Amino acid sequence: MAEQKKRILTGDTPTGKLHLGHWVGTLENRVKLQDEYDTFIINADTHALTTLSKDPARVHQSVLEVAKDNLAVGLDPEKVTMFVESEVPEIYELAAIFSMYVSHNEALRNPTVKDEIKTKGMGDIYSLGFINYPIYQAADIVSVRGELVPVGVDQEAHLEQTREIVRSINTIAGSDMLIEPKALVGRVGKLMGTDGNPKMGKSLGNTIYLSDSEEEITKKVMGMYTDPNRIHPTDPGKVEGNPVFVYLDVFANEHERMQVAEYKEKYTLGKVGDIEVKKFLAGILNNFISPIRERRTYYDNNTEEVIKILNKGNARAREEAQKTLSQVKKTVGLSI
Ligand code: TRP
Repeated sequence: MAEQKKRILTGDTPTGKLHLGHWVGTLENRVKLQDEYDTFIINADTHALTTLSKDPARVHQSVLEVAKDNLAVGLDPEKVTMFVESEVPEIYELAAIFSMYVSHNEALRNPTVKDEIKTKGMGDIYSLGFINYPIYQAADIVSVRGELVPVGVDQEAHLEQTREIVRSINTIAGSDMLIEPKALVGRVGKLMGTDGNPKMGKSLGNTIYLSDSEEEITKKVMGMYTDPNRIHPTDPGKVEGNPVFVYLDVFANEHERMQVAEYKEKYTLGKVGDIEVKKFLAGILNNFISPIRERRTYYDNNTEEVIKILNKGNARAREEAQKTLSQVKKTVGLSI
């Protein structure tokens, strides 16, 4: 049965725990589509070395954190195949082959890569592997023949790179041997940070983690950036671009929407203070995260089970990757 379903391949780079930005960009779609698609989730640990090559302990630990986060949000280990990139060496072989089909200039022009060099202040000190990042990602996707790739909006450039590689190989094959994958961008492609920065990111220190405690979430929400021009609760406030209201729009459920609308009106008129709205938001976020936290606690207490899930996934992903690799090798002339 599973074989007849279309495939999802998506995943995360284990550089730390996952946060609300990951939820809206990709995790929400993973959970929603896990029945409809044969879903593969890659834990891209080799990708993590692009920025953490000198911090092996963090990479190692984050693999489990990220696996637990995926299980905690509600991915069913009986349905989805969760695997670790470095356990499927065929991905490296594919990436090495793919790199022959991407020009040096094209690799340097990737807008997401360029953006990261800028925001992380890397200057010209980045590894060859960092520039190769999108090519490895193409290998991740193609290895298990992923068709749909739920991701945040910043990943679209990598998907375009993947399609270009697929087209090059297909041209040589003279057939549609490999599938051109499509990105599926989440309900909110990019979530603002608690500080009002357009992107939530670990390195920016403006995140709310899916594994944060109730106290941590409340503290972070109470410290959130709002409308800088508003000093007193009686000052008319701005709702647009105000992270507190951005989050309310994203995380309030149907029942809470009416109240959100009321708060927006009052805020605009200067009839409610920041503290009251923030308390309302903290409650909403804690309600949303509470079942996630519960499952997370279970997996924290059962790490062995998580490792078993990954090992089972590694075996299945590897089998699929071997099939793909042998087709690709034959196509490009690498067989005896
Ligand atoms: N680059 C993705 C991110 O930073 C993670 C990732 C690695 C990925 N390999 C992938 C996503 C393959 C989709 C498909 O979030």
